[in-house]
Parts: sequence; structure tokens; C-alpha cells
Amino acid sequence: MTVLVKKVQQLLSILLPCVLQLCCAQTQGVTICDGTKNSLSTTGNSEIQYNLMKTRYNNCDIVMGNLEITMMDHTRDFSFLESIKEVTGYILFAVNEFSRLPLDHLRIIRGSTLYEDQYALAVMVNYQRDGEHGLQELGLTHLTEIFRGGVKIIQNKYLSYAPQVNWLDIVKDGSAQIMIEDNGPESECTGLDSLTVTKTVCAPQCSGRCFGRNPSECCHVECAGGCTGPKDTDCFACRNFNNSGSCVPQCPQTVIYNKLTYRMEPNPNAKYQYGSICVTQCPKNFVVDGSSCVSNCPSNKMEVEKNGVKTCEPCKGLCPKVCHGTSWTDSNRETVDARNIESFINCTKIQGSLNFLVTGIEGDPFNDVPPLDPEKLKIFNTVEEITGVYFLNIQSWPASMSDLSVFSNLQTIRGRKRYKSYALLVVKINSLTSLGLRSLQNINNGAVYIKGNKNLCYHDTVNWTRLLGSRPQKRSKLLDVTDNQKKDECVKENHVCHPLCSSDGCWGPGPDQCVSCKKYSRGGTCVPDCMFLTGSQREFATKSGECLPCHPECKVQEGKETCTGPVCLT
Ligand SMILES: *[C@@H]1O[C@H](CO)[C@@H](O)[C@H](O)[C@H]1NC(C)=O
Ligand SMILES: *[C@@H]1O[C@H](CO)[C@@H](O)[C@H](O)[C@H]1NC(C)=O
Ligand SMILES: *[C@@H]1O[C@H](CO)[C@@H](O)[C@H](O)[C@H]1NC(C)=O
Repeated sequence: MTVLVKKVQQLLSILLPCVLQLCCAQTQGVTICDGTKNSLSTTGNSEIQYNLMKTRYNNCDIVMGNLEITMMDHTRDFSFLESIKEVTGYILFAVNEFSRLPLDHLRIIRGSTLYEDQYALAVMVNYQRDGEHGLQELGLTHLTEIFRGGVKIIQNKYLSYAPQVNWLDIVKDGSAQIMIEDNGPESECTGLDSLTVTKTVCAPQCSGRCFGRNPSECCHVECAGGCTGPKDTDCFACRNFNNSGSCVPQCPQTVIYNKLTYRMEPNPNAKYQYGSICVTQCPKNFVVDGSSCVSNCPSNKMEVEKNGVKTCEPCKGLCPKVCHGTSWTDSNRETVDARNIESFINCTKIQGSLNFLVTGIEGDPFNDVPPLDPEKLKIFNTVEEITGVYFLNIQSWPASMSDLSVFSNLQTIRGRKRYKSYALLVVKINSLTSLGLRSLQNINNGAVYIKGNKNLCYHDTVNWTRLLGSRPQKRSKLLDVTDNQKKDECVKENHVCHPLCSSDGCWGPGPDQCVSCKKYSRGGTCVPDCMFLTGSQREFATKSGECLPCHPECKVQEGKETCTGPVCLT
């Protein structure tokens, strides 16, 4: 009867779609569920907590993360924990009143995260303050291995046999702390007999655990917690991965070496590691990263869909990251300031406007905002696009900075379409001598307003009409670039484009600020010539005049070109 119920439940757990994010993932007969990291702080009442826990752990085989049960009264039924065989993080039971933990199938606590940074198992203060209820039995009858971390069992008034458990046999790390204090009086070995000793009794030949005292009765090295026989299929739990019942050091790899062709080839039987099991497919909501199933791609990779499979792929350069800009409606984000500047780290695209107001740059003592460290503005180096509601609005700027080159990678500004708005506004910044926006290519929607910057030069060498693109509006409505440094004054002060720049103008002094080059460019800087015939690394020029290195395999030719494109000349 119970077997049938269990079968039906298993079937249900396969058929029921993931309704809640916290529901479990069914993978090849093993149900994995996410643990928690609340520690002792719980939210909501105990009824809600209990029901959430029940949904989370019902039928669960492996808890990915921590199993935390706190502040539960003695009437609660925890039989839904019975299925749990493995916890990858820690177990915390604290301030509960129930009498027994039905974790009878738990074999292994991996301790990948530890409670108080040192305990894989913490059982604390489980008794009723003004009553007779409390934890009497641990119920961990099959726990045989704790991979990492120690044990803390304290102040469980009615718990009597915990001190008699052979923790040294269970805890792997010899230096881990085992703290058993202030529990109930030691009892006449209740339940102790059912605990199996799998390590301390083994023959010295066994490197890990054993199923008997003979040297021939060692467990396979891939076993954890013990075994019933010598094979990798006889393990209680796996040290590394469970591949359809065998414990293996790694899952079948995605590429394998073909001994006949001397090549690495795709492995048709490849599997992905998912927690401690090998799966043919990552569960829903998980992404393939190399040979693993992960919940999120690492920071240097982005999620892409490949043949219907979500995969983490390395980003070319910085990974795209969209960030919210400043906002007139949020008093903490009206302007970029010392409080919010860090929120722009690694952003490639800003959704909304970027306001630079005097209260941000110089600080706002009235609201306890310190001045902004100008160095921090370099964070904006990663921004390639500003898009959305308003514009790049510069009304204040550090006196020590003579350009806006912290935006040197900004390529596009998109203003708001329906409203009359500004895309780029720079007013009365006396420290500015050049704009330095060397990558700016497009200003779609919104007008340009650069006015009253007494020392600003170079800006009128740039063809703003080209940047603004073809628009129905009159040019005079889109562009107001006036009252800056006079052109002849600029020339007099030698604030003119570098001779290597073409007549398209420049964003500032130096050969790296040209809109385009008179002749050639290398890595964004104008150069008089490519290394066609000289130097150890010879180059060729692309149609657009960019110098690129010849393929490293090309034999350097003397007196003539080494290559004229990506392919070598022979
Ligand atoms: C390995 O996974 C299978 C299901 O694929 C399960 O039946 C078995 O108990 C697991 N073995 C171990 C040692 O965890
Ligand atoms: C920014 O990106 C770098 C490189 O990818 C990464 O190392 C760093 O942790 C990121 N910082 C933040 C705050 O996202
Ligand atoms: C600026 O660019 C526009 C559009 O590309 C072009 O028609 C115009 O002639 C250019 N102006 C100058 C002064 O080069």
C-alpha cells in the first residue's frame, strides 16, 4: 500500500508542472529541491513557514543548499522530510518543540556552506520554554558522512543520546569542531544500535569506508558514507557524482578523445553535472555552462539559446548589462552622486537619463551626500548606449576634468521619441576644453544643447548633422551649440585637431580623438602609416584604413608586403 502511494506521488511529482519557483526538479528518478539561507531569521508566521517548507521538501531526495527548520511547535508533522537522502549545505534545527526529526534516509551532509562558518549540523535550543515538549530523538539513523564542517548540538533539554553518537566516524574533517553540550541526560543507548559505524572500524588498507572489518571489505573509493559491497554501484552515497547508479569521479564529458582519429570528438553519451548527479539534460530553469547545470551564468558569460538549449557563452568583451539611470522622481537618484555611483559599475547600457547636477558632483551637505570622487566617474567607461526616457545631462562636472572622456565608449544616445527632449546637454562647464566623446556615432531623437562652456573647443569641428541623422525636424531645432569658446580663440590657443585627423573633425586634442583619420588608424588612434614593410609584426590595411597584424604564421617578407589580408602571401 505505502509503496503504491509512493509510486503515485513520484508520478505526480513528474507530471505536476513547476507551479512555484520553489518546487522541486525531477531528474532521472532523483528529485532535487532548493534549500534556504534564512539562518535564524524567519519571516511570516509559523503556519506559512510550515506550508512553504512542505511544498519545498515534499518527495525531495537531495536538498541543494541548506535544510533549515526553526521555530516549529510540537504539533507539526515533519514526515515529509523522510525522503531526503542528501543535503549539500548545512542542516540547522533551532528553537523547535517537536520531539523527533524523521530524517531516517539522510546519508550525507556535504557542508558546501556552513552554519556560523563551521558547522554542517547545528541542533540548538529545541525545547518548549514553559512546557514539556522538545526534541528527544535526532532521528538521523542513517547519517554516515559529513564531508565538511563540524557538529554543534547544544541546549536540547530532552535530547539524550546525541552525545553517544560516534561523531568521529561521521565527520570527515579531523580538525572540525564537535560541540555537544547542555543536552538531556545520557540514556541507555536508545537508537544507538541502528547507527552503522563505517570508518573507524575499517582495516588500515581501506582508504575510506568499509562494509566489514576485513581488508577485502573496503568500499569503492568513489563511495561516500559507506556501502554494502566493494563496487561503485554499492555505495550509500557518492563522493562525487551518481551516474545512473554508479559513483564516478566525473560525468561523461561533452567531448572525448577518439584514439583512432587522434581527435577530440563530441560525446553522444555526454551528461551534465547537476549537483551530485549526472543528467542528460539540465532541468528547466537551469542553464548549461560547459558540462554543468547552473542556475545563473557566471559574470563573464551570457545566456544564449543554442538549438533550443539555454547555454552560457563567453561575452566578447564586457557582458551586456542594462542599468537604470537617474530619475527626477527618486530623491536618492536625481543625480549621479557618491551614494549611487557604484550602481553603474559594468553597465553597458543605461536605461533612462544620466543627470550630473551640482548636488551630485560637489555633494549635498543638506542631505549628507559627500562630494563625488572624480576618479569614480571612470566607472562610466563601460557605457556604450544611453537609451530610454531622457538624455545625458551635464550641468556640473569636476573642476579637475577637462573633458567627458569617461564616456569615451558611448556610441549611441537615444532620446525620447514623442516629446521634445534633449539627447545631450552640456551647459556652463568652465573646466571643459573638449568633449572627448570619441566613440559617439548616433544621436537618435532628442536635441543637442551645448551652451555657455567658456573654454570648450573642438566641438564645432564635428559634423553634428551627421550624428543627428536624417530627421523630419529642422536642424536649428535640434542643435544649439553656442556661447562656447570662440573658434579663433581656440586656434590661437592651438586647440585644434591633430594633423592626422581627416576633415571630419575631432572630439579633442591628440590622434586618438579624430572622427576619422586622414590616412590609417590602429586601435582607434590615427597613424601616418601601417607597418607594411617594417617592424617585426607586419601589417596590412583594411578598406577603411585600419592597420591589422598579418597572421602570426606568415613569413616576414623583406622589401615587400608580408600580407595584404588575413591570408599570408607566399
Ligand atoms: C543514484 O541515482 C539513482 C537514480 O538514477 C538512485 O536510484 C540511486 O540510489 C543513486 N545512488 C546513490 C549512491 O546515490
Ligand atoms: C565587473 O566586471 C568584472 C569583469 O567581468 C568582474 O570581475 C566584476 O566582479 C564586476 N563587478 C561588478 C560590481 O559587477
Ligand atoms: C555633414 O554630414 C552631412 C550628412 O552626412 C552632409 O550632408 C554634410 O555635407 C556634412 N557637412 C559638412 C560640413 O561636411
